[in-house]
Amino acid sequence: MTRVFSGVKPTGHLTLGNYLGAIRQWAAVDQHRSDALFCVVDLHALTVDHDPARVRRLSRQAATLLLAAGLDPQLCTLFVQSHVDEHARLSYVLECVATDGEMRRMIQYKEKAARERERGGSVRLSLLTYPVLMAADILAYGTDEVPVGDDQTQHVELARDLAVRFNQRYGHTFVVPKATRPPVASRVMNLQDPMSKMGKSDDSGSGIVYLLDEPDVVRKKVMRAVTDSGRDVVYDPEGRPGVANLLEILAACTGGNPGALGGVYESYGALKKDTADAVVEVLKPVQARHKELCADPVYVEGVLRDGAEKARAMARPTVDAAYRAIGLLEPSSDPVAEPVLNAAR
Ligand code: AMP
Ligand code: TRP
Repeated sequence: MTRVFSGVKPTGHLTLGNYLGAIRQWAAVDQHRSDALFCVVDLHALTVDHDPARVRRLSRQAATLLLAAGLDPQLCTLFVQSHVDEHARLSYVLECVATDGEMRRMIQYKEKAARERERGGSVRLSLLTYPVLMAADILAYGTDEVPVGDDQTQHVELARDLAVRFNQRYGHTFVVPKATRPPVASRVMNLQDPMSKMGKSDDSGSGIVYLLDEPDVVRKKVMRAVTDSGRDVVYDPEGRPGVANLLEILAACTGGNPGALGGVYESYGALKKDTADAVVEVLKPVQARHKELCADPVYVEGVLRDGAEKARAMARPTVDAAYRAIGLLEPSSDPVAEPVLNAAR
């Protein structure tokens, strides 16, 4: 059976981009047709300035929202990254396979590091090595497919490169994974700035629809979306990024096709209204289920505990195999080994 792994970082409240670009596909498709693991990747949230209490809160919230979005612990494994030591164990070994040049070429690193330096802040070393930890997340589980939004393509490519390189140098150990993307909305753009991705840790919230936004807030944000000069509604991501973004969101929410939907509307106002309604409808059941789950934290904790246990058992053999392959001595379980070693000294 195909093995699927994906994750979400608890660096901010989950957005419509997270949902349409990744989570919805996990719930609707991936968990049904594959052996799937989904992870709240909290170690990744420590790569930028963070508040410990907020990361803890957001981790719990992300796990609750993943369940609310339809992940079913009977069908998939849901867990928190830091509960499974194998990720960090494997990450170090993969750092010994990756090069620093490779890390510095990562687009997300370059952008985030530049932004951080502009603010006069320092860049954590873990931000540079982050894609290696992500590769470890993926490779530890023998993952075939990684369902992600567009922005993660380069990171999954790196995981592929590291798997191939490790296998060539040290013998076949890792499955070589590939990224998969949703057919539409693999890159939902910020409603106020349709040239940039709708990112959950962006400073201004007005261009970002959060999964827990109330219906009237969603409506306000969508109705105020920046559109383009021009009047006719056509799907042209290059020339009319604002309108194209709304058409993609609408198509993703209603199951339509953004190009075909373009011909249906006479005005931007009508397009915005229908898009707002469609988003509100898509979020309604997720929000209702989230409310129920918040009233039952013991259930959520239990899911995460069981998930971590299952994940640990799945990752352990591969990570142990990588340790042996790269030349690390296997710890001996033989009680006579210790005196023999001492005698040899
Ligand atoms: P992150 O919020 O960076 O942890 O992302 C979690 C998942 O959501 C990843 O698969 C991302 O590629 C996806 N994602 C995040 N933002 C967007 C967006 N604006 N459009 C589409 N997918 C996104
Ligand atoms: N880097 C991903 C993001 O920012 C999150 C992530 C971490 C991930 N490890 C992963 C996604 C492994 C897929 C597989 O969205």
